[in-house]
Amino acid sequence: MSRVLFALLSVAALGAQAAFLHGLQRAALQTHDYYSYEKMLDYLDGLAHTYPSRVTLEDWGRTHENRTLRSITITNGYGRRDKKVIFIDAAFHAREWLTPAAALYAIDQLVVGFELNKELLQDYDWIVLPLVNPDGYTFSRTIDPRWRKNRSPNRLGCHGTDLNRNFAVGWGGASTSKNPCSHEKYCGRAAFSEPESRAVRQIMHHLMATERGILYISIHSHGSWILYPWSYAKIAAKNTQEHAEIAQAGVAAVVNAPFDSSTKYKAKASHELYPAGGTSTDYAYSIGFPLAYTLELPGRRGNATFNFHPPRHLISELVQETWIGLRAMAEKTIEKCSKSKRKLHHKNIC
Ligand SMILES: *[C@@H]1O[C@H](CO)[C@@H](O)[C@H](O)[C@H]1NC(C)=O
Ligand SMILES: *[C@@H]1O[C@H](CO)[C@@H](O)[C@H](O)[C@H]1NC(C)=O
Ligand SMILES: [Zn+2]
Repeated sequence: MSRVLFALLSVAALGAQAAFLHGLQRAALQTHDYYSYEKMLDYLDGLAHTYPSRVTLEDWGRTHENRTLRSITITNGYGRRDKKVIFIDAAFHAREWLTPAAALYAIDQLVVGFELNKELLQDYDWIVLPLVNPDGYTFSRTIDPRWRKNRSPNRLGCHGTDLNRNFAVGWGGASTSKNPCSHEKYCGRAAFSEPESRAVRQIMHHLMATERGILYISIHSHGSWILYPWSYAKIAAKNTQEHAEIAQAGVAAVVNAPFDSSTKYKAKASHELYPAGGTSTDYAYSIGFPLAYTLELPGRRGNATFNFHPPRHLISELVQETWIGLRAMAEKTIEKCSKSKRKLHHKNIC
């Protein structure tokens, strides 16, 4: 038996043993309905127990309602510590139900579907924070489906900050509100006033301190856009061409996906849609991620318009399609960014 095969079998055996010891029957990812916060944590825990050599979970703080902000780091299990990183998050906005489902599906492809996707993990680790806003998501799922913000209490008896207006670049500027009772776009009492945006910032800083962060994708809905910096003002990013080329790889892959009416994404600079201050994507780019995207998942399919809430029977197809796009963008990034060796202090060059 080859050593590699033996190692793989040992790892598999260890994983099975760990699952047995924890009395856990790992649940396969379901896409016939939206997951609750608890179900998402169960799913991640199951992966960590079954694939301990390739998966680690980390907590980055707690929300106002005391939910944990848990990320998953996915590697190929070979223990290299200097690898570049692709960082994906989802569900900044509570009502964008498809987005955590898409993030979980991507996780599943990388972990359970490792054999099919292992070249994506050869020189890169992936960090995914699938549910940035668990309080808002839970509120949206159970009480008000249109809810967008988190659930922190504000002045005047109102609740919630728009987490994607709570970052420091252009904070309080375009497309933001200072009114704590605004249902959308309240930017918070200060930049990073919220535990959720601080958690995302912490992950980003952790990756930039070690010069490993290359590609950041924040999954939102709805709109069928792939957006790149800058968002806060009508300024082109230095490497707009590079951003456009990688986005285009995602657009093409999704158009060619084997579905009856696959999404026709449009790629452009975020400010061309509309300028918005305080976004996570601008912040990632500002601290040195060479590539930062907002992926706006579609709000319709064929003749069916569903905006933030795709009917359950479409979840499966939509998350598969999203993965095809993410995968293509990651492949293109890996192709472009492994040619050039990244140098210290050369920000925004991959
Ligand atoms: C928050 O949750 C943790 C873990 O479940 C628990 O240990 C802690 O006591 C909780 N804190 C509050 C203030 O409820
Ligand atoms: C969707 O629209 C197309 C073109 O307008 C039409 O031919 C088709 O019958 C419609 N499908 C459904 C299910 O309504
Ligand atoms: Zn959004």
